[in-house]
Amino acid sequence: MEKLIVEIKKEITEAFVKAGYDEKFGMVSVSNRPDLCQYQCNGAMAAAKQYKKAPIMIANEVVALLENSETFEKIEAIAPGFINITLKGEFIANYVSDMAMSPKYGVEEAKNPKTIIIDYGGPNIAKPLHVGHLRSAIIGESIKRFGKYMGHKVIGDAHLGDWGLQMGLIITECKKRNPDWVYFDDNYEGEYPKEAPFTMSELEEIYPYANAYSKEHPEYREEAQNATFLLQNGKRGYYALWEHILNVSVNDLKKNYTKLNVEFDLWKKESDAQPYIKDMVQGMKDGGYAYISEGALVVDVKEDTDKKEIPPCMILKSDGATLYNTTDLATIVERMKLFKPDAITYVVDKRQELYFEQVFRCAKKTKLVGDDTKLTFLGFGTMNGKDGKPFKTREGGVMRLETLIKNITDAVYDKVSDRDISEDEAREIARKVGVAALKYGDLSNQASKDYIFDIERFSSFEGNTGPYILYTIVRIKSILAKYTEKNGAPDADAKMLAPVKKSETDLMLALAKFNDMMENAFEENAPHKVCQYIYELSNAFAGFYHENKIIAEEDKARQSSWISLITLTKNVLETCVDLLGMEAPERM
Ligand code: ARG
Repeated sequence: MEKLIVEIKKEITEAFVKAGYDEKFGMVSVSNRPDLCQYQCNGAMAAAKQYKKAPIMIANEVVALLENSETFEKIEAIAPGFINITLKGEFIANYVSDMAMSPKYGVEEAKNPKTIIIDYGGPNIAKPLHVGHLRSAIIGESIKRFGKYMGHKVIGDAHLGDWGLQMGLIITECKKRNPDWVYFDDNYEGEYPKEAPFTMSELEEIYPYANAYSKEHPEYREEAQNATFLLQNGKRGYYALWEHILNVSVNDLKKNYTKLNVEFDLWKKESDAQPYIKDMVQGMKDGGYAYISEGALVVDVKEDTDKKEIPPCMILKSDGATLYNTTDLATIVERMKLFKPDAITYVVDKRQELYFEQVFRCAKKTKLVGDDTKLTFLGFGTMNGKDGKPFKTREGGVMRLETLIKNITDAVYDKVSDRDISEDEAREIARKVGVAALKYGDLSNQASKDYIFDIERFSSFEGNTGPYILYTIVRIKSILAKYTEKNGAPDADAKMLAPVKKSETDLMLALAKFNDMMENAFEENAPHKVCQYIYELSNAFAGFYHENKIIAEEDKARQSSWISLITLTKNVLETCVDLLGMEAPERM
């Protein structure tokens, strides 16, 4: 469907042209004085300069041409030259009725669907998920859903960290504790056991221990580095052990991500890029891009316009070892080969911004991607505690994601457990509402900003929170159920009548903005815009519901129009909530 604002703009533009002015002056925006009008056009002000005429004269001429329009209830020129626009109730009601009939409530799918890879989550195997991974998962999942909704081919990739020193550390520690394991017997040629020799909780203990130990003991660290090297070069026993670490970790990760409604399309890993490294490096050398600097192989990526120093991108260390960069670049090679994406978007902590700038420039310069592939860094800020410092446990440690989810779920459970519902239902409500509290608390902030994690505020059923939005949906569902109980299922095709009270007009106008908002939120990778929108929509619903007694209404046509209106409100809210990766319970 054409956006409402575009329809208005078309009509205004036509009038400007008819009155002899350039079409570019037919600009329209949402009114910044909603007490006076709904939309406004400031084009006469801009045209005044070019036509050397008083703006009010131009505005008057344009308005005169629109007085009999089917679209405008009221259109007036206001000194010094603004045009204030109020739409006809029927026009708004027709637009919103059409929306209700449209498969995506007025959103048009992309005419030329693009292939977009979203690199998000980025968990590291054998290390428990912590709150630092939370933002990437939450934001990435949401923008992935936006892209799919807009009709693009979107591939969400977890891009597991499975190939760095942490693997060597775990292997080294396992060897120290269990030197007799078959994985460490260099003469062994048989098959390795199918069953992993450790559980997830054992792994979670091993890694931090080995990491801390290696900091104090250089010889141990060296051994771990060597083990990493041997693993990367295919040493059989180490590889088999690594596969166990991978499987045990991925199972555990999937459980946690499922709790958060985060689903990856792909579970690719850093190690998958390994086979592409050799040719990539050769290509960089042959192309004359890579050169040796202080023993290391590097590619210069600085540009004349740089305001700050952008260091060269290091491809291989002096001992030939690969780095995080190398893997990310080779992953680009792999992705281009497998998917030919039009865009790759990385949802990563904003502290990695400079690093990604280097990687992107290097990928472009060395022609791993052409100019038609868009590489985007979507950097997010830190989740802080109430003290303004990065969020920690009470003991000062890093909080595990599982614990965080449990805390917020328990907070919601406490609020609903006294209701007359079964234990199972209360738990289910707490899960859905808890996840929404957590996610909305995060997504409602602009991604690049830091924010303060506040469990009380996030889980409140009032104010700009996830639970409030869900509560609005639940409330509409209950009105609809009540209506159906009395009158049977509502007429799905019932057209909406022109609104009577302002609160009804406001609700319709809020709904009508959905397609415009959605397109914008997708283009800007901005979940916070969807949050802002559903908060406004929920408030508009609250205003409408407060003023109109839907169930008691005696005028059946009016009542049926209202039922259509609140059904659409529910559908749009549910769609948005799903796009944010949340879901509403039946009751709460
Ligand atoms: N595993 C990394 C970390 O924990 C994040 C990965 C981000 N994605 C990427 N393509 N580098 O910091």
